Amino acid sequence: MSELERHFEATIAADHRIEPRDWVPEGYRKTMVRQIAQHAHSEIIGMQPEGNWITRAPSLRRKAILLAKVQDEAGHGLYLYSAAETLGADRGELTEMLISGRQKYSSIFNYPTLTFADVGVIGWLVDGAAICNQVPLCRSSYGPYARAMIRICKEESFHQRQGYELLLTLMRGTQAQRDMVQDAVNRWWWPSLMMFGPPDDASPNTAQSMAWKIKRHTNDELRQRFVDMSVPQAEKLGVTLPDPLLKWNAERNHYDFGPIDWDELKRVISGDGPCNKERIANRRRAHEDGEWVREAALAHAAKRADGNRA
Ligand code: ACO
Repeated sequence: MSELERHFEATIAADHRIEPRDWVPEGYRKTMVRQIAQHAHSEIIGMQPEGNWITRAPSLRRKAILLAKVQDEAGHGLYLYSAAETLGADRGELTEMLISGRQKYSSIFNYPTLTFADVGVIGWLVDGAAICNQVPLCRSSYGPYARAMIRICKEESFHQRQGYELLLTLMRGTQAQRDMVQDAVNRWWWPSLMMFGPPDDASPNTAQSMAWKIKRHTNDELRQRFVDMSVPQAEKLGVTLPDPLLKWNAERNHYDFGPIDWDELKRVISGDGPCNKERIANRRRAHEDGEWVREAALAHAAKRADGNRA
């Protein structure tokens, strides 16, 4: 083992952070770029389902909240692309990989937002699942990613609360509003459980990512944590989670839950979800429309650099 490898292994073993200046094995670098890029893409694509409701928010207050939340997601994406750049990735290339289907983004953002209750349920369940998955990533071994997660989790926590508060308001409203919430919960519950990824015995990356302390828990551990957390919240809200097998198991000290449709997750990840084509087409259009901005920014930077040299 070389001195560099020894240093890397010792840093991981001591639970210290790997920083951009440190040598890392190629596999670690690739895994980190893959995960950070997928995460960044998810934040950027994730602006679309809720962005769909900004012009139709039912009040100025709800509109201001939604605008702030969607802007936060853009910020998270940019943060994360910057973290990927510290590993030598190129932001432009990552975007190309996304819009050409060579890199993934979270399955959850391929489902449609049919009513305004979906905005609340995305905050409660989708952002709730994101927090559950991302809080442990604040202790991820790669420093820039772990530090980005701290701020992102704080903002996700606001997103989760605004969603839950929106739902509480709707549940205090009319029967039609309560039905709308229940319908949204029925549609988002199972896709939210799929966000945590394939089951552990079908997750090719978990073992190595745990050994490198990139991931701190397995997909199934976090999924279970999310179910346990959500059941009392659903009770308080007064909605039914759409799973007849959901039941407290006193021996395990956890809720048991029904089987997940893994074929659906595979289909959605491989491009065949309800909105995959629309999401990527929108992202591609926004990228092409932004061409002149990138050109202008580069020209401005070049001018300033020339000025500095003169
Ligand atoms: N949607 C899309 N792709 C997924 C999903 C999902 N829900 N779950 C797993 N995958 C992909 C993995 O990225 C991996 O892709 P690859 O073919 O490029 O290797 C493949 O399916 C196999 O899965 P795993 O071996 O379990 O992959 P991994 O160890 O990376 O775990 C996980 C997946 C849990 C999503 C992990 O990457 C992670 O924690 N990422 C950071 C969080 C994140 O990206 N959140 C985005 C959504 S939340 C939000 O933005 C609000």
